Amino acid sequence: MSKTVTIIGSLNYDLVTFTKKVPKAGETIQANSFETHMGGKGLNEAVAVARLSPPSGHVQSRMIGCVGADDFGKSLRQCLVDSGVDVSNVKTIGGESSGVATILVEEESGENRILITAGANGHLKPSDEEYKSIFESDKEDKNEYVVLQNEYPDTAKSISWLKTNKPSINIAYNPSPYRPELVTRDIWSKIDLLIVNEGEAQDVAKLLLPDLDLVDSMEGVKTLAVEIQKLLNQNNLKTVVITLGSKGCIYYDAQLDEPQFVKSRKVDNVVDTTGAGDTFFGGLVSNLALGKTLAQAVEFATAASSLAIQKKGAAEGIPEHKDVIQLLGE
Ligand code: RIB
Repeated sequence: MSKTVTIIGSLNYDLVTFTKKVPKAGETIQANSFETHMGGKGLNEAVAVARLSPPSGHVQSRMIGCVGADDFGKSLRQCLVDSGVDVSNVKTIGGESSGVATILVEEESGENRILITAGANGHLKPSDEEYKSIFESDKEDKNEYVVLQNEYPDTAKSISWLKTNKPSINIAYNPSPYRPELVTRDIWSKIDLLIVNEGEAQDVAKLLLPDLDLVDSMEGVKTLAVEIQKLLNQNNLKTVVITLGSKGCIYYDAQLDEPQFVKSRKVDNVVDTTGAGDTFFGGLVSNLALGKTLAQAVEFATAASSLAIQKKGAAEGIPEHKDVIQLLGE
């Protein structure tokens, strides 16, 4: 049976400068090259779900977002179409520019620094009627995952509408960029699958688990995973994944005796880490939607992101399902 994974979020035109080193305040530095790429966490996740699903059509990726009435918007929409994403809920906002990300990539490490300007993404505030028409046009069983992040103004409303009106849908959430006003027990108790990086997980703990002793070790992160998992919705998936950058990740759900650590794959030539987290997220959700176990989904997502960091560009760097299968030797 076909599953629909709906991604609600941002589409950005990425303006990327590759440089040996990033300037300090007041400093001007000669960079090495400049490229434009398709990006935005929402678009990257939608493309990742589409490309990282088998071509058999068992998973349909669907995007809810906004672009400006400009050439950037046309390119962003076309990128989704070319990747097989359903764009019938991507709106063009007249008189507004598309979202833009200014990105500096340090050539030696592939690490980035990103500044985003919302543009049309700032208009992504679906009304109750729009949510209703989008989610009620499908049968409940087709619609089991919604992927969200914080690059649009309405994340809290999306979470609340979905949990009230479609409680069996799994809400998969990456609270990035970090917005402390969205870290509340009420919002987090509606989340079914949380992907968060280590620093953000610690920030969350400081707000919601002030009595937790934060220990800077693998055991400390495992404890964090167990305690954060208890904050989530205790129906549906009940899963937390804490990403640890180049080290790997820790995952935990209530069925496991203890959190599990998965090491990153060794990559000698890291070119650009932009979008690696979105690739991981999309790969994880597409595999869970296909019925894979959490362990299998994390292994797949880890392999997918190891391929993504070897190519330039956020969306353009996302591999195909077959590339990941080949890497895994299946
Ligand atoms: O996660 C990477 C993305 O963050 C980039 O594509 C950029 O657009 C920003 O949204």
